[in-house]
Amino acid sequence: MTQMTLRQHLMAQATDTDLMILIEDIATACRMISDEVRHGAFAGNLGGAGTQNVQGEAQKALDVISDQIFQAQVGGNPRLAALVSEEVDEVNWRKEAPQAGDFVVYYDPLDGSSNLDVNLSVGTIFSIVRLGQAIETTDSAVQIKGTEQIAAGYAIYGPSTGLVITTGQGVDGFTHHPGNGAFLLTQPAMSIPAETQEFAINASRYDLWDAPVRRYVDDCLRGADGPRGKKFNMRWCASMVADVHRILTRGGVFLYPKDSGNAGQGGKLRLMYEANPMGMLVEAAGGASSTGTGRILDVAPTGHHQRVSVILGSKDEVAVIEEYHLK
Ligand code: AHG
Ligand code: MN
Ligand code: MN
Repeated sequence: MTQMTLRQHLMAQATDTDLMILIEDIATACRMISDEVRHGAFAGNLGGAGTQNVQGEAQKALDVISDQIFQAQVGGNPRLAALVSEEVDEVNWRKEAPQAGDFVVYYDPLDGSSNLDVNLSVGTIFSIVRLGQAIETTDSAVQIKGTEQIAAGYAIYGPSTGLVITTGQGVDGFTHHPGNGAFLLTQPAMSIPAETQEFAINASRYDLWDAPVRRYVDDCLRGADGPRGKKFNMRWCASMVADVHRILTRGGVFLYPKDSGNAGQGGKLRLMYEANPMGMLVEAAGGASSTGTGRILDVAPTGHHQRVSVILGSKDEVAVIEEYHLK
């Protein structure tokens, strides 16, 4: 069986050369992060770094290492205007005078890092925007809506290392072949079924949820005899990459809503390097992404570490959850 490499696939899609090289730089960073994760126990890197990031969250040693690898591998790309990382407070400007055609890359270097010490899947999430004009190097210049993304994706570090990307033409999944050294196309044209009987939410936050989310989950749990008329299955990986990978593979919905415990900060998940890239991928695979009251990609950012309510996955189920919010 012939399996295209990532480069062959991007060439076949007639991807712009600058974008292709940037995606390959990101793929290189992800291969190196995968290697660090795999060797984490030998190097004693699975635990805490003893530091906090800008969001006040305790950093794992591998959060910091992954960010450094990403900066080193992607930061030297000559078309890069700026990097925006979960682990770095300030925008990391790479040019003094960014021009039209330059890129801004938003990324979560290691997603789901609470899973590291229990050896469950983690990943790296990224989003790419191309500047339409020259900009000043101010924070507000990188506060660009999700609809402006030209590419997005994630790497997943599980039993195998995968890379899932969209450049706006569908969603394709690749698996890293350690002998070959490349990512090979193993899941072409990933698509999310419109209907599902599987939801993913951290149910320990039940007491904190708003009424629409509680009503939705209550109704799902009532099974075939309840208002939804079907029995639901439940999954929660505590790793958005792993949950979204399952949804892109077999459908389902993922919810991390704003609740009374996280409302002060606007929710849990970050708009620019978690919700927007996953929203773009899910939509490109035929699914939907919503805050509960509107499309995630339409949210106008007011900060590069801004948080947002996230509901995404199978299109019809996301529509049902939006109806619970309207009621
Ligand atoms: P990160 O490790 O980058 O901080 O992200 C963790 C996120 C996301 O991956 C996951 O869906 C969610 O946080 C898990 O939250 P809970 O621990 O509340 O389940
Ligand atoms: Mn994350
Ligand atoms: Mn992270």
